[in-house]
Order: sequence, then structure tokens, then C-alpha cells
Amino acid sequence: MEIKGNTILITGGTSGIGRGLAESFHKLGNKVIIAGRRQALIDELTASHPGMEGLRLDLQDAKAISRFAEAVAEKYPDLNVLINNAGISKMENWKKGEVDIQVVNDIIQTNVSSVIQLTAELLPLLKKQKNATLITTTSGLAFVPLAAAPTYSATKAFLHSWLQSLRSQLEGSVEILELAPPYVQTEIGGQAQKEDPRAMPLQEYVDEVIELLKAKNTPNSEVLVERVKGFRQSIQTDEYENVFNMINSMFTV
Ligand SMILES: NC(=O)c1ccc[n+]([C@@H]2O[C@H](COP(=O)([O-])OP(=O)(O)OC[C@H]3O[C@@H](n4cnc5c(N)ncnc54)[C@H](OP(=O)(O)O)[C@@H]3O)[C@@H](O)[C@H]2O)c1
Repeated sequence: MEIKGNTILITGGTSGIGRGLAESFHKLGNKVIIAGRRQALIDELTASHPGMEGLRLDLQDAKAISRFAEAVAEKYPDLNVLINNAGISKMENWKKGEVDIQVVNDIIQTNVSSVIQLTAELLPLLKKQKNATLITTTSGLAFVPLAAAPTYSATKAFLHSWLQSLRSQLEGSVEILELAPPYVQTEIGGQAQKEDPRAMPLQEYVDEVIELLKAKNTPNSEVLVERVKGFRQSIQTDEYENVFNMINSMFTV
């Protein structure tokens, strides 16, 4: 993708990785539109970054996604980059039977169904543009699952597969990039994750991603920082079992 001069919509732009990317892309000279549920954060970010805009979006609501896509197409006819970044995660204890199907469905809706819907609804607009790019945030857990978070890990594996198919079908019209973060200090796992020294500092992660994008250093259209490469390459390097055991000893239910 081109690193500047884009009109970029970022879901999950109110916090964590999405917010970090929004701020960096804004600084680089892109028109950035952030989306999320928390209006106060949208207001705060757009006020402190002149030119940045924001729209409220609840990805749990399929009808709202359609209305949102229509509004985006009307307001931002130059939109050429969609970053599907919003996501939620929750541990599930299958041993004790502590599995809330509503929560499971919420994870699937936010991490998968809404991504498919929003992409499908904005694709006609993206396809009209010269430098159209779709970036979707998966995870290192797309390649090696965290047993304590079966649905979350599976949603990311789903996206990894889905993106490969889209890349094949849309070759020549839309660039399809996969952003697979390692464990990063954000609030997705609560305050503890934000302060966990084992997690990658957020700004460090965002800066490394921007450097990879600038250098077009995205082999196989995957944006992989050094810290996540062990996950991605574990099958090829015969390290799968070691990586699996390592992460699954760190986090259990
Ligand atoms: N941090 C990590 O260790 C890590 C590792 C691998 C992958 N990831 C992925 O990175 C992405 C960003 O997560 P993060 O770590 O930056 O966590 P985060 O700080 O919790 O950010 C999640 C974002 O998603 C938005 N969101 C959640 N539910 C939504 C909904 N129903 N409708 C609209 N927006 C919604 C939130 O905005 P509102 O609350 O304002 O709606 C928020 O901006 C996710 O896809 C996550 O799976 C994170």
C-alpha cells in the first residue's frame, strides 16, 4: 500500500492497536476516519488530531453496519483503505462448562461476521479507487491457538484463511494485507494486559508495523513484526509444539 495520501477507515480506532495506527497514519498525511462505539473517545481523538474524523459504529448490530457503510460511501467517496481492526476476546473454561454461548456468538459476530459484512458492503467503493487496500487484523493465535481462548483463536484462523481466498479473487484490484499482531499491551485482555511486561509495548508495535508498510516488507501480504514470526513460522520450523506449549503455559483457565 501507499503510506500516505490515502483515505483510511479504521474500525476499533478508539483504542489500542487501531488508535495507534490511526494516529500514525494521520501524522503521515492520510485522511483518517475512526470507528467504534465509544463516542467520548471518538470526540477526544478527533479534537486532538485536526482533520481526523470519527463515526460511531456497533459491529454487533448488522443493520447498523449497513447504515454505516452507506453513510461512509456517501461522505467519503475517495475511501481507498479499509482497516478491519476491531475485535474482542474472552477466555472460555470448557472443563468446568463455563461457556456462555452468547459471549461465543458475540466474539464470532465482532471478529468474523461483521468483518465479512463491512468488507462486502464497502468493496464496491474500494474497487473504484486506484490504490485500494484492505487490511484485516488477525493474530499470532491464527497460527497457534491459545487453548484458553478457543473461539477467539478460531476467529483469527478463520480470517487468515478468508483473506487468502479474497487475495486470490481480488488480485489486481484490491491489495489484501493481513496484520497479525503478537501479544501487545492493550486493553483487549483488561488492565492486566495493558501493563503486562511480557506483552509488546503498543507504540513499539505500531512503529514496527508502519516501518514494514513503508518498506513494503510484507512477504505473502502479511505484516509480521519480529515478535510474531515464531508463531507464523512454527509449522515450517517444526517448532509448533514448543510454541503451543509455551503460550499455553503462560495463559490457562
Ligand atoms: N493486543 C493484543 O495482544 C492482540 C494480539 C493479536 C491480535 N489483536 C487484535 O488487534 C485488534 C485490536 O485489538 P486491541 O488489542 O487494540 O484491543 P482494544 O484496545 O480492546 O481495541 C479493540 C477495539 O475494537 C473496538 N470494538 C470492540 N467491539 C466493538 C463493537 N461491537 N463495535 C465496534 N467496535 C468495537 C473497540 O472500540 P469501542 O470499545 O469504542 O467500540 C476498540 O477500539 C483486535 O482485532 C484484536 O483481536 C490484539
